[in-house]
Amino acid sequence: MGFMANAKVLVSDPLAEEGLAILKKAVDVDVRTDLKEDELLRIIGDYDALLVRSSTDVNAKVIEAGKKLKFIGRAGVGVDNIDMDAATRKGIIVANAPEGNTLAATEHTMAMMLSLARNIPQATASLKKKEWKRSKFMGVELNEKVLGIVGFGRIGRELAKRAIAMDMKCVAYDPFITKERAAQLGVEMMSVEDLFRVADVITVHTPLIAETKHLVNAKSIATMKDGVRIINCARGGIIDEKALYDAVRSGKVAGAALDVFETEPPTESPLLTLDQIIVTPHLGASTIEAQVNVAVSVAKQCVEVLKGGSAKYVVNAPMVPPELAEVLEPYAQLAEKMGRFVIQIASGRLSSVELIYGGELSAYAGSMKYITRLALKGLLDPILQQPVNIVNADFIAKERGITVSETVTQESSGFKNLITIRIKTDKGEETVSGTVFFKGRSRIVAVGGYTMDMIPEGYVIVSRHLDKPGVIGRASTILGKCNINIAGMQVGRVQPGEHALMVLNVDSEVPAAVMEEIRGMPGIFTATFAKITSGKI
Ligand code: NAD
Ligand code: MLT
Repeated sequence: MGFMANAKVLVSDPLAEEGLAILKKAVDVDVRTDLKEDELLRIIGDYDALLVRSSTDVNAKVIEAGKKLKFIGRAGVGVDNIDMDAATRKGIIVANAPEGNTLAATEHTMAMMLSLARNIPQATASLKKKEWKRSKFMGVELNEKVLGIVGFGRIGRELAKRAIAMDMKCVAYDPFITKERAAQLGVEMMSVEDLFRVADVITVHTPLIAETKHLVNAKSIATMKDGVRIINCARGGIIDEKALYDAVRSGKVAGAALDVFETEPPTESPLLTLDQIIVTPHLGASTIEAQVNVAVSVAKQCVEVLKGGSAKYVVNAPMVPPELAEVLEPYAQLAEKMGRFVIQIASGRLSSVELIYGGELSAYAGSMKYITRLALKGLLDPILQQPVNIVNADFIAKERGITVSETVTQESSGFKNLITIRIKTDKGEETVSGTVFFKGRSRIVAVGGYTMDMIPEGYVIVSRHLDKPGVIGRASTILGKCNINIAGMQVGRVQPGEHALMVLNVDSEVPAAVMEEIRGMPGIFTATFAKITSGKI
C-alpha cells in the first residue's frame, strides 16, 4: 500500500491539538466527538482510520461498517472499548499509546493514596461547608506501611519507585514479571494471596481480563488486614464493587480510592454514598502532558500506517522490539517471499505450515512470531480473495484449519542463519529454505531438498524431471520460441540420471499454454510457474 494522499481519518473522542496537527499535515481529518452510535455507523464507511480514546464504543458493528478502515488508534493504553477480534479478522491494525500516560496515571494513584490516607477530599468538602472538624479527619501515615501492587507493569513499577522514596515497603504480584526484575527495584514478588494478607494499602494495575475480573472480591477481602485501604486507578471491574461497598460499610476496609468503575459514569452506584470512598471521574490520564503524548503517538502511527509503513505499538499483531526491527527486517522480507514461492510450487489444499529458524536466528527466538506471520501472509495472500496482512494472517490460517508450528534451533546446515518453510497439502509436501547474507541480501538455498542458489525475486519456473540429456535444452527452446528470456538457471540433483529439480528465473510472465508445453515434454514430471512479487496471483 503506498501513500494514501486522500486518506480520511475520523477522530471521534477529544484528541490534543498537537496530535491533530500531525494528522492534518498528511491527511483529511474530521473531528466528531458528538456522534451517537447510529451516526457513527452511517459515516464510518468513508474513513480509512479511526482515532479514539475510551468513550467511543468500537464494536463489531462499527468495524463491519468501516469498509475502508485500515487503522484504529487508541490514544491511551486500554483497548477494552475496541472489539479486537472483529478488527483482527478484517486485518485492521489496532495500535495504542501505552507509554504516554504512564506517569500521569502513576501520579494520580499517588495522589489518591495520599488523599485516602489523610482524608483530603472529605476535609476539603467539610471546610467548604464552613465546618472546622480537625478530629474527624484523623489520618494515617504511609511511612513504613506495606503497599501491595497487583500488576507490576509500567504504572506498577513507576508507582513502586515513588512509594519506596516515601519509605513504604512494596510487595507485588504479577505472574509475568520475574522475582529478579522486581528485586532490582527493591520490590518483593509474592503470590496474590500473600499480598492480600500482608498489605496495608492494595492498588491494582492490571488490564481488565477474565483472570483479573473481580480479583478483589468478598472472599479475597476477607483474607486482607482489618483496616486495609484499596485503590483502583486501572479498570473498573477488577474490584467487585458490591463486595467493596459491603466491606467498607462493615469497617473491614477503612477506605477506598476509585478512578474507574464497572459502569462509567457510575451515577447510580451506592459507592458514591460512602464518605470513606474517594472518587475521581477516570482522571488517571488527564494531564496536559499525557494527552499531548498519547495524541502525538497515535497520530504519528496513523500517518505511518496510511503511508504503507508500520505502527510502533500494534496491539493485534506480533511486533519486534524497536532495537531489533532493523536486524530482523531482511529475514521478515525473505520469509514472506519464501511463503509466496512455496505455495505456488506446491499443489493441493494447504493443511500445515512448519517454520524452522536456525543458526544465529535462535538468538532472537522471542521475535520469531513476527517473521512467522509474514511467512503466512506470503503463503495465504496470493491464494485468497480477501486481503491478508500481518494482523489477520494467523487468524485466517486458524479459520481455515491450517496448523502452524514454529521451531527454533542452532542447526543451520552450514549457513549463518537459515529459514525453512515446510508445507503439507492433501497432495504432498514442499520445502523451501533461505538465508540472509551480508547487508540483507537473501537467497533461496534449497527447494524440495535440492541445493539451490536462487535470488528470491521475479518470475520463476520450477520443474521436476528425470536427469537425462536434452531436457534443459528443450525447455530453453520452448521459452526462446515464445520470446521469454532466461535470466538464470539451476539444476539440483542427487545422482546423475535420477530425479532432478530445475529452477529457471525468467524475465517475464510465462503464459499457461507455454507451461503446458513444458509439462508435455518427455521426462518432465511437474512444472510450475511462480511470481515472487507482491499482490494476488
Ligand atoms: P502494563 O501492560 O504495562 O501493565 C499491566 C501488568 O499487568 C503487566 O505487567 C501484566 O503482566 C500484569 N498482569 C496481567 N495479567 C495479570 C494478572 N492476572 N494478575 C496480575 N498481573 C497481571 O499496563 P500499564 O500501562 O501499567 O496500565 C495498567 C492499567 O492501568 C491498565 O488497565 C490500563 O488500562 C490502566 N490505565 C488507566 C488509566 C486511567 O486513566 N485511570 C491510565 C492509564 C492506564
Ligand atoms: C487508558 O487506558 O489510557 C486510560 O484509561 C486513559 C483513557 O481512557 O484515556
